[in-house]
Amino acid sequence: MELIFEKTREGRKAYTLPENIKGGAVDIPDKFLRRNLTNLPEVSELQLVRHYTALSKRNIGVDSNFYPLGSCTMKYNPKINEDIAALPGFTKIHPFQNEEDIQGALKIMYEFEGLLKELSGMEEVALQPAAGAHGELTGLFIAQAYHRSKGRKPGKVIVPDTSHGTNPSSAHLAGYHVVTVRSKDGNIDLDDLKAHLNEDTAVLMLTNPNTLGLFEKDIETISKLAHAAGALLYMDGANFNAIMGITRPGDFGVDIMHFNLHKTFAAPHGGGGPGSGPVGVKAFLKDFLPVPVVRKNDGQYSLDYNLPLTIGKVKAFYGNFNVILKSYVYLRMLGKEGVRKVSEMAVLNANYMKELLKKHYNLPYPSVCKHEFVLSLNTFKENGIGALDIAKRLLDYGYHPPTIYFPLIVEEAFMIEPTETEDKETLDAFIEVLIKIKEEAEQDPQLIKEAPLNTVVKRLDEVTAARNPVLKYEKKR
Ligand SMILES: Cc1ncc(COP(=O)(O)O)c(C=O)c1O
Repeated sequence: MELIFEKTREGRKAYTLPENIKGGAVDIPDKFLRRNLTNLPEVSELQLVRHYTALSKRNIGVDSNFYPLGSCTMKYNPKINEDIAALPGFTKIHPFQNEEDIQGALKIMYEFEGLLKELSGMEEVALQPAAGAHGELTGLFIAQAYHRSKGRKPGKVIVPDTSHGTNPSSAHLAGYHVVTVRSKDGNIDLDDLKAHLNEDTAVLMLTNPNTLGLFEKDIETISKLAHAAGALLYMDGANFNAIMGITRPGDFGVDIMHFNLHKTFAAPHGGGGPGSGPVGVKAFLKDFLPVPVVRKNDGQYSLDYNLPLTIGKVKAFYGNFNVILKSYVYLRMLGKEGVRKVSEMAVLNANYMKELLKKHYNLPYPSVCKHEFVLSLNTFKENGIGALDIAKRLLDYGYHPPTIYFPLIVEEAFMIEPTETEDKETLDAFIEVLIKIKEEAEQDPQLIKEAPLNTVVKRLDEVTAARNPVLKYEKKR
């Protein structure tokens, strides 16, 4: 397929750009004039529409295909959220407007904070962070400011080997020394944790449910151990969609957590962003939150910048308001029972698939999972096939593949997260295809190694693409 730039044909241009833009309503000084516009595509409206429609059909998205990308929660996001977020009363407000004029927006932020507090058991919430990893960094800055206020040095952050990769990265970025503790049968190994916990530990940071899709069953003991050592307990709550409405991190000892609104609630994840990663804290940490925080006094909403111990600002203005708004609508639509049902369905769907697939694939951690589970595709080694090959073959059947090679503790990891929005027929069809691919891998390994066969582009040189990305069109001379 030609690039849009290549569709311009000398001699039959559908539209010709002016040589330069001099002489409009505004007299632009010469030095600001763009001299060379010739590399822009010069095509008709119809060519343009066809080009982008054709491109969109080459894409795989939740609105067209099952997308079981573990750790990403690629669920269906109801369109009503988009409709409401697109109302002019929301899209036309400006962050510099007076508080009196934006009472509705402040009310939504205030009420959304309240919903997150109720669901999580945390006592204060900051909506500013723009993504999950940004929430982690914000939470760790809060922990640092807290310890500093007690006269403690930064110390180390303990991270289990089942944590999401962003956890050690955020801790490192926040300036902490990072120490990894082992897991045992998929949960934190308490002996290894005890061996590493000491007065130098600033934060114990864990993902719960973890990246194997397992809930930390000893979380109360873990919390007591961390607190006894003087550490704060941070929970990566990006997987909250497996437990919300059922249990509350604030009740099992978590001091700081972040939410991934674009995973747990309703806003597109990944390239469909932007995201939002609010941070919840226990009351003793509230003075360290980023400013401004939304307050309500005598029925009036206001922005409070006056927190003497604040870590400052972590994002322009008040966070990604539109994502917050979509998540607010989502929660209000679901209600209390609906929220619980989301978690129950996410867990049921994952366990249903796990139980059927374990008869055909290697499942290293066979206990009841939460919203996702991890297969190990290490059994095809003899045929020269790994997780990547099976993932590529899935593309031929019209599925976005699951996450592969993560978590690192599973060899040839294949991480499946069906989400709560898929029905049984969709899950059954996917299981059937995976069983078929297994048979192909055993009987015709060459076919799998050459996959994908039906897609527009085949195997890509991913290393070169990542190391030398070509992001700009260069006109061929
Ligand atoms: C468990 C977990 N933690 C953290 C993150 C990071 O979130 P983000 O991609 O929004 O930075 C993700 C992302 O999917 C995640 O699944």
